[in-house]
Amino acid sequence: MTQALYRKYRPKGWDAVVGQDHVVQTLTNSIKADRVGHAYLFAGPRGTGKTTVARLLAKAVNCLNEDPAQRPDNTCRNCEAVNENRFMDMIEIDAASNNGVDDIRDLREKINFSPSQGKYKVYVVDEVHMLSGGAFNALLKTLEEPPPHAIFVLATTEIHKIPATVLSRCQRHEFRRVPVDEIVANLKHIVAEEKLSADDEALILIARQSAGGMRDAQSLLDQLSSTGTKITLALAQTVLGTATSKTVLDIIGSILDHQPARGLETIHRALDSGADPRSLARQIVEYLRGLMLIQMGNIDQVEATREVKQQMDEHAKSFNTSEVLRMMKIFNNAAVDLRGGWQPSLSIELALAEVLDSPTESPQVAAPRQTLPKLALTQQAVSKIEAKNEASASDDKSIISASDITNSWKHLAASLPKSQANLSALLNSVKMIDVQGKTLVLGLASDVLVSKIDKPDQIEAIKKMIKDNFNVELSVRCIVTNAKGKVPANVAQDGMVAAAIHHGGEIVDM
Ligand SMILES: Nc1ncnc2c1ncn2[C@@H]1O[C@H](COP(=O)(O)OP(=O)(O)OP(=O)(O)O)[C@@H](O)[C@H]1O
Ligand SMILES: [Mg+2]
Ligand SMILES: [Zn+2]
Repeated sequence: MTQALYRKYRPKGWDAVVGQDHVVQTLTNSIKADRVGHAYLFAGPRGTGKTTVARLLAKAVNCLNEDPAQRPDNTCRNCEAVNENRFMDMIEIDAASNNGVDDIRDLREKINFSPSQGKYKVYVVDEVHMLSGGAFNALLKTLEEPPPHAIFVLATTEIHKIPATVLSRCQRHEFRRVPVDEIVANLKHIVAEEKLSADDEALILIARQSAGGMRDAQSLLDQLSSTGTKITLALAQTVLGTATSKTVLDIIGSILDHQPARGLETIHRALDSGADPRSLARQIVEYLRGLMLIQMGNIDQVEATREVKQQMDEHAKSFNTSEVLRMMKIFNNAAVDLRGGWQPSLSIELALAEVLDSPTESPQVAAPRQTLPKLALTQQAVSKIEAKNEASASDDKSIISASDITNSWKHLAASLPKSQANLSALLNSVKMIDVQGKTLVLGLASDVLVSKIDKPDQIEAIKKMIKDNFNVELSVRCIVTNAKGKVPANVAQDGMVAAAIHHGGEIVDM
């Protein structure tokens, strides 16, 4: 079998280590100055270079090159031995499988023997957080008085599990997730060396998917290159399961054309052939996110094949941003909805029904809404509404009419500075605006949205926006509402009044 890419391309010198400049800088300085410590702790996510750098350190301190700045030179016999995995004085211990007191005692006995090939014995203890309490204590004794020829490198992905007593004895280095562009550059280098052929877009997708882990990125490249064909974005998407499926396009198309039957049929067909309803909902959300990015002028950030991008571009023109946001919210709820347990397709079917149930549509499309369990108000919302009801209707004399605010709401949201784009998007998702006394009540579709908007600095910004534009001081309250327009939140959401409102009725008096 051929060697895995991530083994083959393990950096042999400091300059090949990517994205960990701060660590490399400190270590190479101490090598040059011949001031190497005796205990290091390397912390950071998987596959970001901890073991790699530990090996480089072991190689550098044992390198026979006379010029410390050249170490490791990869040419002396010690460097060669490390590179060929036959260097006796570098000892790698996997704490996950040797986590007991006896293992550490054993290590402590051996550590006193002087190195056999090099100048230093370097112990690399991987996954050190897996050591038992007793083993940590035993290790601590060694760290307190290491023999002069010993260097410890403890590596961990979970630094919070390392006892403070151990931390305080070590020189600590934090490894970071490698940025996407640096991963891409590294993959390009490998592609060239291996005489592979790959599209840049595919490499970017791989890099994004690996969340900063270089090993993961290299393994994915390995996996894709094993197909023996050119690594295109389409191939990468298929293998990584991020392709925009025809199903998603069909569902969006059915929404656009107001064809619930076609939409449901598409969903059923996908589920029958084994698709997972929640991941289908996630894919739809991802796609809608792409539409939003396009609408905001960020088409570059959209990962899709040219054909899909073209289709997205059209869809982006057909919906407005608040519609896209609304659909995203609804399908996102379906993606995280656990209630579908007994009937897994229910959440996504309901989501489709809810999306299609918009005020501009015909009654028969709106009908399924009555049965939507999503209409049930959360407990949190109910208590907020009850609190509201305690203030009696009499002080509902408002100092500004809600319709004034409602009418200019879109304009207000759009006029916020760029730095408040987030708030602006949230304001666009407000479903209900009311003024009760001196309080501006904003209704949002979910707890999540309420918690996103209900933050002191944002509430201040909203107050300021109202003050600046209407010259009135209002306090702001955010509530969960499923109602459209001005359906008062204190109406039982599953009762007859609600049903009437959902069929287009209007409350004229309370
Ligand atoms: N910073 C990096 N620069 C270049 N290549 C890297 C880097 N980090 C990881 N790699 C690649 O990934 C492989 C695995 O890296 P390494 O074993 O050093 O990760 P690690 O941080 O020790 O991961 P783990 O926590 O899983 O032990 C290396 O052989 C190398 O090919
Ligand atoms: Mg490692
Ligand atoms: Zn050397």
